[in-house]
Amino acid sequence: MLFQKKPKNLTIPKHLAIILDGNGRWAKRRGMPRTFGHQVGIENIRSIAIECSKLGIKALSVYAFSTENWARPQAEVDYLMTMPAQFEKQFKDDFEKYDIRVVFSGRKTKMSAENKEILERITSNTANRSGLILNICFDYGSYYEITEAVKSISEAAMNHEIEVSDITPEVISSYLFTANLPPLDLFIRTSGEIRLSNYLLWQAAYSELYFTKVPWPAFDKKQLLLALEEFTNRDRRYGGLKG
Ligand code: IPE
Ligand code: IPE
Ligand code: MG
Repeated sequence: MLFQKKPKNLTIPKHLAIILDGNGRWAKRRGMPRTFGHQVGIENIRSIAIECSKLGIKALSVYAFSTENWARPQAEVDYLMTMPAQFEKQFKDDFEKYDIRVVFSGRKTKMSAENKEILERITSNTANRSGLILNICFDYGSYYEITEAVKSISEAAMNHEIEVSDITPEVISSYLFTANLPPLDLFIRTSGEIRLSNYLLWQAAYSELYFTKVPWPAFDKKQLLLALEEFTNRDRRYGGLKG
């Protein structure tokens, strides 16, 4: 834990998820194309992952491209599909230094073969690291994730690998992309929208939700600490009574 420097009295979530929203609007306000916002947004994933690593957060999930985002204009989709190559360039030295492992959650069937290869390469190149897990959700959607889990569990039941009566919430969790990540403690959405947009719906069942008007490209360490302060002050009761 060489790099850990947790500010005093702050409760650190084990698993933080962020809907990194507002790239386009942030760029437009600056008279720039939406893609510029995405570029700065991608760089910010790197910066915030490093901050999370320093704070001792175990897992950071980020929503980089949703199963619904294919509905955007083709030119914007084309730019967003350059994200894997940009990740590969960005996640070099610092990520090695901070021992950050990168994993990807999402559908692998619609993206180009080249992107699939890049994602696999990043995953395998960082697989032996033991620091922060950066889970990049790319062509991710909860409906897709849960539907795939239902299909796999049904197949296992048909093959008598599992009894229907043995299907529990824990079993379902083990079929999701997040199976190896800690439970989701804190869920942040930037840029003012108050909705979940098909992100981590199962995992967020008991997460603390935090919405900020700050757009993703402007969400910095100070903003992260504000969210963690609020998280620290939340009373998590899980249906019980105040402890
Ligand atoms: C979030 O920013 C990034 C992605 C969805 C890929 P947006 O592109 O949604 O930006 P706004 O919300 O239109 O400003
Ligand atoms: C959610 O943002 C998806 C990602 C951040 C990748 P959107 O901008 O696509 O969500 P909506 O359309 O406002 O719900
Ligand atoms: Mg948006």
